[in-house]
Amino acid sequence: MINKIALIGGGNIGGVLAQEIVRRRLAREVAMVDVKEPELAKGKMLDISEGSPILHSDVVASGSRDYSVISGADMVINTAGVPRTRRADGSIPTREELLKTNLAITDAVSAGIKQYCANAIILSIANPLDAIVYRLNMNLQPPRERLMGMAGVLDSARYRYFVAQEAGVSVDSVAAMVLGGHGDSMVPVRSACRIAGMPVEKFVAPEKLENIEERTRKAGGEVVKLLGVGSAFVSPAWCALEMAEAIIFDQKKILPTSVLLQGEYGVRGLFVGVPAVLGANGVEKVLEIDLTDSEQAAFMKSVTSVQGTSEEVLALLNK
Ligand code: APR
Repeated sequence: MINKIALIGGGNIGGVLAQEIVRRRLAREVAMVDVKEPELAKGKMLDISEGSPILHSDVVASGSRDYSVISGADMVINTAGVPRTRRADGSIPTREELLKTNLAITDAVSAGIKQYCANAIILSIANPLDAIVYRLNMNLQPPRERLMGMAGVLDSARYRYFVAQEAGVSVDSVAAMVLGGHGDSMVPVRSACRIAGMPVEKFVAPEKLENIEERTRKAGGEVVKLLGVGSAFVSPAWCALEMAEAIIFDQKKILPTSVLLQGEYGVRGLFVGVPAVLGANGVEKVLEIDLTDSEQAAFMKSVTSVQGTSEEVLALLNK
């Protein structure tokens, strides 16, 4: 258990995070800031607090429109932003189209963190994932172990679920890694996908795997289309908590994490999803796994796409 977790953004994902933090007793205190009127964060946290006796949980939950509520937090989970929502014509905006709006929000988020909990470990979920983390890094310049993005855990969970369904086995028996950026160029690493330690190809035919990998790349959009309003929120919250728990309980879990690369995989200065050891200090180690030639090529293509988004972040800064 840590002392205080700050949730920035109290919408769909923030709401699930708050409930789960209280239920799992991950911190003595959980504080939510959301700018939505009249008092969205205060209302959500009051609702949760009033239910806390049923969970036998004494976690202190508070919410406000004022960033001072996050003062002194050890960990920040950032979901402030506008999610992908189906337009009236049925089309879906890309994550990149959200960039401009969400960058302005990210600047406000950065200012809040800087003022009230500058030393916190930051886990960011808001989209476009890699670009938002890049901007947080520009604004805050924390040590690299203290800032990371959650995307790969979710993309890998989706891959694992689809593989488990196809193979007719428990999701628990499927291990998988999806690396690269959190967009259509993400890389489901088939060579790292194992069912009880055995290569996935032993259970699922190559053409089926291709379909699964394509579905994984588009899985966020599939949910957006079905929901009609907003984007996936339960699974992203659970996946962020998988990372948060690894840190809170110093588990040294190896999880796909969007982290600032400093030469690993031949990349420097970009946030890209790679396997990392998460423990009490945050990102404790970045691991370089062996990829097949085609996976390596797909990974570099994804890096190029992350680079493009990051350049857009810089360009928008000058406007
Ligand atoms: N400070 C704090 N909160 C803010 C700010 C800000 N400056 N600007 C917006 N918010 C809040 C909104 O008021 C809203 O309640 O962020 C919340 C976002 O919640 P939702 O719209 O419900 O979005 P959610 O589904 O939770 O997704 C959040 O994560 O997966 C990504 O694409 C998704 O970028 C989106 C983010």
